[in-house]
Amino acid sequence: MGTEFENADLETIVKKSGGAIFNNAGQTLNHNIYFTSFKPNGGGEPKGKLAEAINSQFGSFDKFKEEFNAAGATVFGSGWVWLAKDAGGKLSIEKEANAGNPLTKGLTPILGFDVWEHSYYLDYQNRRADHLKELWKIIDWDVVSNRY
Ligand SMILES: [Fe+2]
Repeated sequence: MGTEFENADLETIVKKSGGAIFNNAGQTLNHNIYFTSFKPNGGGEPKGKLAEAINSQFGSFDKFKEEFNAAGATVFGSGWVWLAKDAGGKLSIEKEANAGNPLTKGLTPILGFDVWEHSYYLDYQNRRADHLKELWKIIDWDVVSNRY
């Protein structure tokens, strides 16, 4: 109450805040994006313009997945790996620590995988890379492709 963020949307708070406000807003936004990227019996491949952009920039969807998984596996400590786009539609894979989101770099998040240990420990213990490989099987590519 009574702060400059009182009536701001989450994206604005993430772009402009720091410290505890950023951490809370960032993790809320990140998990909103994350959990809406999945569906039962998901998986398959990206669609439409996103599929074209991935193929032209990464060579193929499999190559992109390989790079994305490698980036996620090597985020040091807790954080996120993101597929993001810039204003011109150019894609990039962004490693972010803690509550980081590519919005703070002026990019738009398309897909993010949570690599905090809490996201996989119960099922995979310390095997983060195994967890990342499994996530592709539940992606809702209708939702994710629409973010591009
Ligand atoms: Fe999480």
